[in-house]
Amino acid sequence: MNPKRFAEQVAIITGAANGIGRACAVRFAEEGANIACLDLNEPANEATAAACRDYGVEAIALTCNVTDPASVQAAVETTLSRWQRVDVLVTSAGIHASAPLPELSLAQWQRVLNVNLTGVFLCNQAVAKTMMAQKSGSIINISSMAGKTSWPHEAGYSSSKSGVIGLTRSVAMELAPFGVTVNAICPGNTLTDMVRHVAESIGPRDGLTGEEWLQMRANDCPMKRMAEPWEIAGVVAFLASKDSRYLTGQAIEVDGGLVMS
Ligand SMILES: NC(=O)c1ccc[n+]([C@@H]2O[C@H](COP(=O)([O-])OP(=O)(O)OC[C@H]3O[C@@H](n4cnc5c(N)ncnc54)[C@H](O)[C@@H]3O)[C@@H](O)[C@H]2O)c1
Repeated sequence: MNPKRFAEQVAIITGAANGIGRACAVRFAEEGANIACLDLNEPANEATAAACRDYGVEAIALTCNVTDPASVQAAVETTLSRWQRVDVLVTSAGIHASAPLPELSLAQWQRVLNVNLTGVFLCNQAVAKTMMAQKSGSIINISSMAGKTSWPHEAGYSSSKSGVIGLTRSVAMELAPFGVTVNAICPGNTLTDMVRHVAESIGPRDGLTGEEWLQMRANDCPMKRMAEPWEIAGVVAFLASKDSRYLTGQAIEVDGGLVMS
């Protein structure tokens, strides 16, 4: 592997403070990109930017709420005024929500759609003009296996993640003539704070401890384990690399075979 595939490039990563977003930020830094880390969690986001700088690149932590158009626009403008280009956008900011359908409130439904789908839309829109003018760029939207299959109590989350796949296809068609690729990744269960919180809250509902619930979920897939965040980041990096220049509009399962099975 060429360790500097993204030298001189600029990557914006949302949800960079934790989990998959953090792993993506560090991976792009390791491979030479300058990084704009966007997240609501200021201390953890600063820590990610510092970890990126350890690879000798420039990295900034920008406090951004992906549901707020002005906040997203400001973060992209700060990135552009610093580096004058955006080569990669990874939209990893997201939340999980689970409730039986009769108990899923309209507010919960709207919140999960707002962060997981509207947030992705706003970020795609905010970088589109720049990438079209550059005639280059890669957008990688983090959907989920829940966008392709589903479980009970996941109406809001699943809908948001299926929406990301539809959004990705449409944006891919619109930006393809400009040499910009747009793809989605559908991770399976990945060991992050999100999954640990889900385990702690849903486990007891199923009569399981958090650890038991995690083990049950790991056994869902043929590989019988969860992903590590860096295993998702590696595929994200491939989608931003020259090796995938002719690949667009796809929603790639990185799930140990879960959806297939
Ligand atoms: N972990 C999994 O098993 C898994 C599986 C499939 C898909 N995903 C998706 O991957 C993405 C990352 O998940 P993760 O597991 O790394 O979660 P995480 O909770 O570890 O990290 C999510 C990050 O998003 C940030 N965030 C939340 N709302 C935000 C907002 N409005 N504006 C800006 N930042 C915001 C949080 O502060 C956090 O740092 C999410 O979209 C999630 O739905 C995760």
